[in-house]
Amino acid sequence: MDTHTGDVPVVSVKHVTKNFQAVTALRDVSIDFYQGKVHVLFGENGAGKSTLINVLSGVHQPTEGTVEIEGVGADLVSPQRARELGISSVFQEPALVGTLSVAENLTLGREHLRSGFLNRAQNRRAAEQALVQAGSTLSLDSAARDLSRADQQVVEIARALQGSAKLLILDEPTASLTEDETSRLFEVVRRLKAEGLAIIYITHRMGEIREIGDTVSVMRDGALIDTMEIQDVTDEELVTLMVGRKVESLFPDIPHNPREGGLELRRVSTSQLIDVTLTARRGEVVGVTGLVGSGKGDVGRSVFGLAEVLAGSITVDGEEIGAGSPEQRIQQEIIYYPSDRKRDGLIQTMAAFQNATLSALDSWTKFGFVNRKAERAAAEKVLQKMHLRPNHPESLPGTFSGGNQQKIVLARGFTRDYAIHVFDEPTAGVDVGARAEIYNAMQALAESGAAVLVISSDLPEVIGLVHRAYVISQGYVVGEFTGDELSQDNMLPYFFQEMKEPIS
Ligand SMILES: Nc1ncnc2c1ncn2[C@@H]1O[C@H](COP(=O)(O)OP(=O)(O)OP(=O)(O)O)[C@@H](O)[C@H]1O
Ligand SMILES: [Mg+2]
Repeated sequence: MDTHTGDVPVVSVKHVTKNFQAVTALRDVSIDFYQGKVHVLFGENGAGKSTLINVLSGVHQPTEGTVEIEGVGADLVSPQRARELGISSVFQEPALVGTLSVAENLTLGREHLRSGFLNRAQNRRAAEQALVQAGSTLSLDSAARDLSRADQQVVEIARALQGSAKLLILDEPTASLTEDETSRLFEVVRRLKAEGLAIIYITHRMGEIREIGDTVSVMRDGALIDTMEIQDVTDEELVTLMVGRKVESLFPDIPHNPREGGLELRRVSTSQLIDVTLTARRGEVVGVTGLVGSGKGDVGRSVFGLAEVLAGSITVDGEEIGAGSPEQRIQQEIIYYPSDRKRDGLIQTMAAFQNATLSALDSWTKFGFVNRKAERAAAEKVLQKMHLRPNHPESLPGTFSGGNQQKIVLARGFTRDYAIHVFDEPTAGVDVGARAEIYNAMQALAESGAAVLVISSDLPEVIGLVHRAYVISQGYVVGEFTGDELSQDNMLPYFFQEMKEPIS
């Protein structure tokens, strides 16, 4: 027997192939995962990362190949079986029941039964233990919906750690966390790693790979390209491996030629904004940033008629747009790209190309004069340009990977001419290569004379992309930055600014 247990992988994926009808999501992938290591999976949208996770966690069965746990073939026939065998996953979508307490969420589905009755005391003890293991001091009695996104994430980790987890899988866990929350999550991950867990970590953020990872596997088109120690590879090399070509620069250099007209909010208040004044001229790319929960999302929603404007005015090219529904906004040449593609973005029963056209907005609008054939052609062209993978515009949104679903939402604005484009977190979950495409598309919009407003919590994105940016804190605009003023050092302090009075 091998006594160097550290050298035996906890979990091995061996020659795994996974087909979904005509699509090969994984081809002959073999990776070993070791105790005490954070193993990052890095790859383009649709590369097969989530599919690999789904095979490991018993959601999908491999078409070919096997998974071994500590050298023994494992039959991962269901998520429950995978958990029993020590493989636990925290999926990207939050899965807590909001109305239940932390304790109830932790024991849900795994209640200790004693002669048919729930043993409450035992359940609470188990829940408490799980929280401690996840490094949390949360109260067992808080309702899940009252927790911050980061605390919810920790409860999900605690839930995954119940029983005897050997491998913990985190699929893009920081997509909706602030920097502060992310560093708290990293502390938890580091402690679990020190306790000897193997961890798989999926992220599109380059900075995180180096900060938290030990090993990285790069995937492309369902295949494993290489597995490396992170210290042996530069960021540039990683990106080149991932996209199979060099990505020259992420952010285009967009000439700043503001023209007359555009979008203007004057002293707008909504349920989440107070006295917000901001402009995006035609020809400009303007950012709106701030913490999650600062209220910045209401800028987009109020412009598109999805949040009630309680006071103030919104004008386009100097004309007030008044109160109105999204369908009126579209007629006023305003298009909005929501951040929550599952809830507001995509109609799951309609093909990708339909979702990429106005037909998908039929729930909002009843357009009489849309040339649907022309739109379909336009949509297919745009989807191809955005590198939709696989390039099957007739497939349903649910069959695409997360990042590819985001591309479908974004394609909408490019099938028709709009004066005002408002993006809310446009690149969350989108890979580096596709992000460059999206930024180039925004550049084209600005250069053609549209006003582009980008709402984003990703400060490096805002700094790299926009001509001008506003920071929102607690519903107020607390700062405006142009040109050279756009920097992390200048802007970050404003994220935490407490406001009592609006600035004038
Ligand atoms: N249920 C399904 N039916 C059909 N095809 C699917 C299904 N699930 C995944 N696929 C396909 O498998 C491929 C891999 O998708 P996967 O979700 O694993 O990508 P990913 O690497 O996680 O991408 P992302 O970074 O966008 O999350 C994609 O081409 C996707 O369209
Ligand atoms: Mg995925």
